[in-house]
Amino acid sequence: MLQAKWDGIYADNAHTPHIAEVLSAHLHLLPVRGRALDLACGLGGNALMLAEQGLRVDAWDISRVALSHLQNQAEQHRLQIATRQVVLTPDKLPRNRFDVIVISRFLDRSLCNAIMAALKTDGLLFYQTFIRHKLDQQGPSNPDYLLECNELPQLFSPLTLVFYQEYARIGDLRHGNRNEACYIGQKPTR
Ligand SMILES: C[S@@+](CC[C@H](N)C(=O)[O-])C[C@H]1O[C@@H](n2cnc3c(N)ncnc32)[C@H](O)[C@@H]1O
Repeated sequence: MLQAKWDGIYADNAHTPHIAEVLSAHLHLLPVRGRALDLACGLGGNALMLAEQGLRVDAWDISRVALSHLQNQAEQHRLQIATRQVVLTPDKLPRNRFDVIVISRFLDRSLCNAIMAALKTDGLLFYQTFIRHKLDQQGPSNPDYLLECNELPQLFSPLTLVFYQEYARIGDLRHGNRNEACYIGQKPTR
């Protein structure tokens, strides 16, 4: 069962929360207030970062264990994060609710339309995940969970492209994130 798998992964307590660089490098794009969602948050490094920035944060994941670690972290840092244990399907996402959605290291293409619908007008989507042509073993090996070249801008083409980075194998491979693509898009006014 998927939840048991992820609960098992988080049970050993050896992980540190991951913060996506597409978020940490672009904090200046965040609104000063508003509602943010860290989707498939895991230990919620992105959720903690968003809450530190003053946003009202929801953090959703299938793993109760991960969410419990996140709640402990939030309490230690005196931050409020509304966690929700959920098996993500398109119908679980509300419409027109979030000013910011962050997704890192998770890919379910069937959710893309619902993710865009969950953004408010002018809302921002920060997305960072593994590419098929990644350089090393980090991340999944199942191609279903790996992005094709330039796929994020295509999946979210109704959004206005704000930022995209995919270094692939150009130049000096010792530098830059060679495993993941980074994307920011903004929901346009209809
Ligand atoms: C590789 S982790 C990434 C976690 C976090 N976003 C990060 O960057 O560290 C993928 C996360 O997706 C969650 N997940 C996987 N399938 C899910 C599903 N169907 N519904 C909700 N969460 C899911 C897992 O529990 C796990 O925390």
